[in-house]
Amino acid sequence: MKPIIITVDGWSSCGKSTMARQLARELSYVFIDSGAMYRAITLFFIRHQVDLNDPQSIVAALSKIQLAFHLNPINGNNEIWMNGENVEASIREMSVAQMVSQVAAIKEVRAFAVAQQQQIGSNKGIVMDGRDIGTAVFPEAELKIFMTASIPVRVQRRYQELLPKHPQITMEEVKENLENRDYLDSTRSISPLRKAEDAMVLDNSHLTQEEQLALALSWAREKINH
Ligand code: DC
Repeated sequence: MKPIIITVDGWSSCGKSTMARQLARELSYVFIDSGAMYRAITLFFIRHQVDLNDPQSIVAALSKIQLAFHLNPINGNNEIWMNGENVEASIREMSVAQMVSQVAAIKEVRAFAVAQQQQIGSNKGIVMDGRDIGTAVFPEAELKIFMTASIPVRVQRRYQELLPKHPQITMEEVKENLENRDYLDSTRSISPLRKAEDAMVLDNSHLTQEEQLALALSWAREKINH
């Protein structure tokens, strides 16, 4: 059977990566979290105090960034490495979350990330999640999924995720960060977040992980078998 490309786009914290990872596992496909690439770039910019208003510094910084995904044999996840360092945990910090949408809106940053995403997907057999994967990175993808969930559900999920490492965090802070990112991601001039016309909508506000996976799998198998 011919491998296909599956794109999973949608709003922040609606479970895209969880679903995309499970879907890839079921199909024995590669899973790529494109948001991790923008987060890693942001982490580098923070560490090296790159001026976001200076295109020359941005280009110089990007030339020093090497990104790669490596399978972690312990948890079976495809984790992101930057310049030889596993940054999978560091990129989930609030400091990165607060700046990533601004960094992801920069033209040079998008060109850098998109070129690598297209290269990674060139052999197909891939599930990639993000914001512009079905609209800009792989507009010809065989299956496009657009995920959404209500704001209270997304805030609650993200809050539970952050709480163990950030016991001081409030629901209000989480909501503000989430809404702010959604706003920036959907209003930026280059490849804003939007549903591709031919994308299947998956609203998981009232679905369990098993239910949403079953739905996505049925769509994927239909495409793969045709
Ligand atoms: O999926 P995530 O929350 O880890 O993504 C982090 C940020 O990266 C998100 O706020 C927007 C940006 N992003 C993007 O602009 N395009 C993508 N394909 C993936 C993420």
